[in-house]
Amino acid sequence: MISKDNVHKPLTVGEVAARSGVAVTALHFYESKGLIKSQRNAGNQRRYPRAVLRRVALIKVAQRLGIPLAAIGEAMKNLPQDRAPTAADWKILSEQWRQELDERIHQLTLLRDRLNGCIGCGCLSMEACPLRNRGDVLGEQGPGPHFPVE
Ligand code: FES
Repeated sequence: MISKDNVHKPLTVGEVAARSGVAVTALHFYESKGLIKSQRNAGNQRRYPRAVLRRVALIKVAQRLGIPLAAIGEAMKNLPQDRAPTAADWKILSEQWRQELDERIHQLTLLRDRLNGCIGCGCLSMEACPLRNRGDVLGEQGPGPHFPVE
């Protein structure tokens, strides 16, 4: 339990790790990418504002949604480091990530549908297979092989 005196006391990296469930190495990595920020105490040890816990929670949720760390960093760069992200901050970020998730679902659905056409085919042809043909020119004409098999 946090006493009244400790409410504003900065956290060590070990405390952040324990409270967030994120490994110390991951916290250092987040910091190297600018996602979280610490200050050094007189002994040159990292100290984090308590607001970092909500930032870390936000990072973990975004990662769970499959958002790349670079994109998370880009989205969070305008959030102040010295206060916890607010509900309004979360609304903006979550709406943006919702759109990205929808787009990925759309792309995965297309990929799944193309895979359906490949099941039972097995040609794996550069020219005909929409999963091998990244340009997917022939894939637009429908699934399955488009050239006779020799
Ligand atoms: S295996 Fe993909 S079209 Fe044949």
